[in-house]
Order: sequence, then structure tokens, then C-alpha cells
Amino acid sequence: MERTYLMIKPDGVQRGLIGEIVGRFERKGLKLIGAKLMNVSLERAERHYAEHKGKDFYEMLLRFITSGPVFAMVWEGDQAVGLSRALIGKTNALEAAPGTIRSDFAIHTNYNLIHGSDSHDNAEREIGIFFSEEELVSYDKAI
Ligand code: CMP
Repeated sequence: MERTYLMIKPDGVQRGLIGEIVGRFERKGLKLIGAKLMNVSLERAERHYAEHKGKDFYEMLLRFITSGPVFAMVWEGDQAVGLSRALIGKTNALEAAPGTIRSDFAIHTNYNLIHGSDSHDNAEREIGIFFSEEELVSYDKAI
């Protein structure tokens, strides 16, 4: 079982796409184990985007992700990282395969609606930035 960190960015929240996007992961069969609407502090944004520090779009990334509420989520399932990225589509909307979230709803690389962790290790790192373990649920005891 694998976990991944997904985050509907400020453009997705403002455009009213939370339900549409969440529904796609639910229908795929992944399990939602954590979710919250939140504003991202500059400190959290810098930790989240640390690997992009120094790139020409880094400052824009920080400004955008702190510009309005995001919908932060943790999903669980076999191959959750890879499956999620397949549903999301490539970073550049022009290259995203038809039927993916970015192909269906995005036109801009900067405003591309949703972030999905790109590896198992990054998923665990990013989950730790946005969630405490107490905020995540377990379905084991469900009746
Ligand atoms: P994401 O993969 O969520 O995290 C890094 C973000 O940087 C990416 O989404 C894009 O929104 C943004 N970005 C802007 N320009 C580029 C670029 N040239 N290459 C990759 N990502 C970019």
C-alpha cells in the first residue's frame, strides 16, 4: 500500500473544481485518508517547492500557491503515486493526454490545477509538510 500527497491549487479551488477532481480519484478506487481546505504559509510553500529553488519560475510558484486556499489531500492505494499522476496528466496542459485532469481543465503550465507527488519518497516528505499523522484516518476499524 502506498500513500500520495495531492493538492488542488488555488485556481482549482477558485474555479469550483474540488468536487470534480476528488470524484475522479474516488471513482478510480483510491482511498481518501486526509483532506483539508487551507491557506499555505510562505514557510510551508518554500519547504514544498525546495527542489525548484533557483529556477526562473520559483518565485512565481511561491506567489501562486500562497495566493488563496488550496485543498490538501492524502490518498492511499496500490501504486497511489503513479496512478494519481496518470489521472492528473503532464505538467504542460498541451502535452497532457486526453481525459486527464490537466487536459480536460487546464491551459497553462503555471495554473495547472493540481499537484501530485512524483515519487514515494517525495510523497512521504510532502505529507509530512501538510499533515500530522493524527489528521489521517484509518478505515481498519470501520463497521
Ligand atoms: P507541479 O508539478 O505541481 O510543481 C512544480 C510546478 O512548477 C509545476 O506544477 C508547474 O505548475 C510549475 N512550472 C512552471 N514552469 C515550469 C516548467 N518550466 N517546468 C516544470 N514546472 C513548471
